[in-house]
Amino acid sequence: MRRLAADGAAVVFTYATNEAAAKQVVAEVETAGGWARAVRADLSEPAQVERLFAAVDQHFARLGIVGLDILVNNAGVPTGTPIAEVTEAEYDRVMAVNAKSVFFAIQHAIRRLRDGGRIVTLSTMSTAYATPGEAVYAASKAAVEQFTRVATQELGERGITVNTVSPGPTDTDLLRGAVPEEALQGVAQMTPLGRLGRPADIASVVAFLVGLDGGWLTGQNLRADGGLV
Ligand SMILES: NC(=O)c1ccc[n+]([C@@H]2O[C@H](COP(=O)([O-])OP(=O)(O)OC[C@H]3O[C@@H](n4cnc5c(N)ncnc54)[C@H](OP(=O)(O)O)[C@@H]3O)[C@@H](O)[C@H]2O)c1
Repeated sequence: MRRLAADGAAVVFTYATNEAAAKQVVAEVETAGGWARAVRADLSEPAQVERLFAAVDQHFARLGIVGLDILVNNAGVPTGTPIAEVTEAEYDRVMAVNAKSVFFAIQHAIRRLRDGGRIVTLSTMSTAYATPGEAVYAASKAAVEQFTRVATQELGERGITVNTVSPGPTDTDLLRGAVPEEALQGVAQMTPLGRLGRPADIASVVAFLVGLDGGWLTGQNLRADGGLV
């Protein structure tokens, strides 16, 4: 979101638990001359997704903005549990955070997006590169890819583009929580480019898709994975 704010967008972003990090991002954006607001929401609950969009409306109303230009669905949780050990609670949580939240966020965004708007969903290379322990995670992201493809068809007549970005291993809290430090170098070497992705690598692809140069791409799944898949 720092990148979109730097590119001139007024950005409302969500966090689930890390209020300190969210406040720091808002402060950094404002110091750089941009505009951002953070809203706490557990996106796995549709009622909270609805409240989030109401909060977005209020924030933008104070700026004199009606409607939305861009929705980026980024929140996600991993799972590394083998199929034999996945509980119903873990299955439901991963599906709710990763897939259900995206569906209802797209639904609320559709009612607000101006013609020519943009939607980007975050999937993963794991929908194309099967990895032990990632059955539920990959399935949740496969659902996101399908929401994206259908939304492309439903929204095209309004000039709204809808695309997926599928990162490979990217150096974030999520990856560091899922892969032991000693294994990270091996993961990096799996990519032809020989390194882990950086958050800025993914942000660049999203910024391209939502920017002026991305207008003729829709229904695509861009694999931002350093060539791994
Ligand atoms: N990093 C990778 O290697 C990688 C690879 C492929 C795909 N991806 C995808 O890229 C996206 C971003 O991942 P990341 O690596 O940046 O992960 P991250 O560092 O763990 O950040 C995940 C974000 O999701 C938020 N979140 C988690 N549960 C939530 C909930 N129930 N409601 C609202 N927000 C929630 C977190 O908020 P709090 O911090 O406030 O809890 C955090 O901002 C995800 O969709 C992920 O699946 C990542």
